[in-house]
Amino acid sequence: MRTQVAIIGGGPSGLLLSQLLHSAGIESVVLERRSRDYVLSRIRAGVLETGLVDLMHEAGVGDRMEREGFVHDGTLLANGNEQFRIDFKALTGRHVMVYGQTEVTRDLYEARDAAGGTVIHECRGVKPHDLDTAAPFVTFLHDGKVNRLDCDFVAGCDGYHGPSRQEIPTAERTEYEKTYPFGWLGVLSETPPVADELIYANSERGFALCSMRNDSLSRYYIQCDLSDSPDDWTDDMFWDELKRRIPEEAADRLVTGPSIEKSIAPLRSFVCEPMRWGRLFLCGDAAHIVPPTGAKGLNTAASDVHYLFNALRHFYHDRDDEGLEKYSETALARIWKTERFSWWFSSLMHRYPDQSGFDLRMQQAELAFLRDNEAAQKAMAESYVGLPY
Ligand code: FAD
Ligand code: DHB
Repeated sequence: MRTQVAIIGGGPSGLLLSQLLHSAGIESVVLERRSRDYVLSRIRAGVLETGLVDLMHEAGVGDRMEREGFVHDGTLLANGNEQFRIDFKALTGRHVMVYGQTEVTRDLYEARDAAGGTVIHECRGVKPHDLDTAAPFVTFLHDGKVNRLDCDFVAGCDGYHGPSRQEIPTAERTEYEKTYPFGWLGVLSETPPVADELIYANSERGFALCSMRNDSLSRYYIQCDLSDSPDDWTDDMFWDELKRRIPEEAADRLVTGPSIEKSIAPLRSFVCEPMRWGRLFLCGDAAHIVPPTGAKGLNTAASDVHYLFNALRHFYHDRDDEGLEKYSETALARIWKTERFSWWFSSLMHRYPDQSGFDLRMQQAELAFLRDNEAAQKAMAESYVGLPY
């Protein structure tokens, strides 16, 4: 088999890149380890920056999102029983779109199918070769056979646990990491959301987030211990704990119901430098992770895809390789700013096991400053709606 761009990983990064390349007449093949149903059953992000919304339109897959997604002009921040609003529209003139990652992925799969794109599922042992030459290739096992895919470039879109990043020699790779001493327990339930906008809550009992997918589907999270398992939490325990962490008036309104998904995610900040080695280009979680507070994971994956897509387009259409040469530098400049925001917002909203009285006062002072200071709100809003590409 031969293609122009071999894409490892059929999550949102890989599929969006593949669909954008198709729109520019550039061929790609996506190699995915899991089945399509498995990929579509992973409940993850829910808030899209306008940059990602625009990319979906550019890829020709924005119609359902435009019909079914919800525009949010602001968000609520709660501190105990107090609550204030960050007005994205007034502060930045921009907004975010609530539309689940599952739906983004579904739309992209459908578009790839409609265009006759090749997405090979259940590939095993995917391995890139000769990345430091002009003729790289990828080998993989599929249907009991070893296959070889020759290509011009390899895009490593295979998430945090994928093999692509490991292809950058250790001597040339630096990994920066911070782990957080707690996780998020998430519940999806077929209940109406508690508020029209998201509520990020800092409480004495730990962080909570009230989010949503649509008018009758809610997504809630609470900070939990890293040693917890979803089975430790019955639905009743979850709802009781959530109610204790959000303002009373919201707790009184909260409609509860059976969970249809329950999972725990650890929190981590991680960046791999560089994001390019020879003909290998990393995108999304393969190169970086943010803690989920502020919903930047999927959006940062999208900005990488934007840079890589445009670099490849200029290479194939204009024989200009400047974008490819500068890809790592350009993508990392934005990534580090998003890492800062996600780290800051996580630090502001969570309770840490070793937090001193001073640390707590600093958190309270920072929340009060944000509540009262328009410049601070503007800085927060600019990062939340998405830094420019
Ligand atoms: P992924 O979505 O991880 O996709 C990578 C793909 O590569 C996967 O389909 C995987 O099966 C495939 N793959 C892996 N190894 C191989 C291999 N060897 N061969 C072939 N294919 C391979 N972000 C938010 O903004 N908000 C959230 O609430 C949120 N919740 C999250 C919860 C969890 C449990 C996780 C893990 C992430 C969450 N994120 C969240 C982050 C967000 O979902 C990711 O940033 C986003 O999925 C990144 O997309 P990606 O395509 O780069 O990586
Ligand atoms: C969601 C997740 C987030 O991490 C966030 O900051 C906002 C919303 C969500 O899954 O809906």
